[in-house]
Amino acid sequence: MAVADTAEARREALKDVFARARGCTRCAPLAASRTQVVFGAGNADADLMFIGEAPGRNEDEQGVPFVGAAGKLLSTLLDGIGLTREDVFIANVLKCRPPENRNPEPQEIANCSEYLFAQLELIRPVVVVTLGNFATRLIRDDPTGITRLRGTAEVRTIGPRTVRLLPSLHPAAALYTASNREVIAADFALIPGLLALGPPEQAVAAPEPAEAAPAAEPASEPAPAPAPAAPEPPSDEPQLGLF
Ligand code: URA
Repeated sequence: MAVADTAEARREALKDVFARARGCTRCAPLAASRTQVVFGAGNADADLMFIGEAPGRNEDEQGVPFVGAAGKLLSTLLDGIGLTREDVFIANVLKCRPPENRNPEPQEIANCSEYLFAQLELIRPVVVVTLGNFATRLIRDDPTGITRLRGTAEVRTIGPRTVRLLPSLHPAAALYTASNREVIAADFALIPGLLALGPPEQAVAAPEPAEAAPAAEPASEPAPAPAPAAPEPPSDEPQLGLF
């Protein structure tokens, strides 16, 4: 995917990916049972991106990731390192809710991964935190489990971007086993230091930023007043939740 190189152009491209995902029927049963596609939410130019598993009931109803009990814990953990949801981007491996919150199936992950990889390419995070096995295995393209990998950051190239990857437990693991909360909090405590390191050396050279347009010649005549703006079409922003 050729990517325009201003934050605004990448944000617009992200909206196009959202529009495609919103109409996606690749997983026919999920497309039939979903209330809506849960594309992701947050800062489209975030340095920090979280990847969860799949929307649950609350997310499916509201169209926003991590708004249920696991999401509340995620917000609390972010608060613990001085961040808010507006500072980060949150996405999932699957954009549609699996019925009864069953595990994502391999074909569903394969069908949906294009959207996640496009999000990574357009948002360009410095640090990616994978929450749980499904996100970690997809992003690492390796079956090693989260219990072994959690809490150890590594530099990883995902498509055209090289990022600092930090696998962590899924917050839902702390809802079932209280002691996991400290484990996840210890992983999150590593995030500020990883962000402070800045982007790792890129395996693929980033495109040169577009040159600034030359300044316009001063007009000899005063410019006519702009025509009144046409009414805005209904915006995607609330559902996409971009800040
Ligand atoms: N669990 C996830 O993995 N993602 C969500 O959006 C909510 C719960």
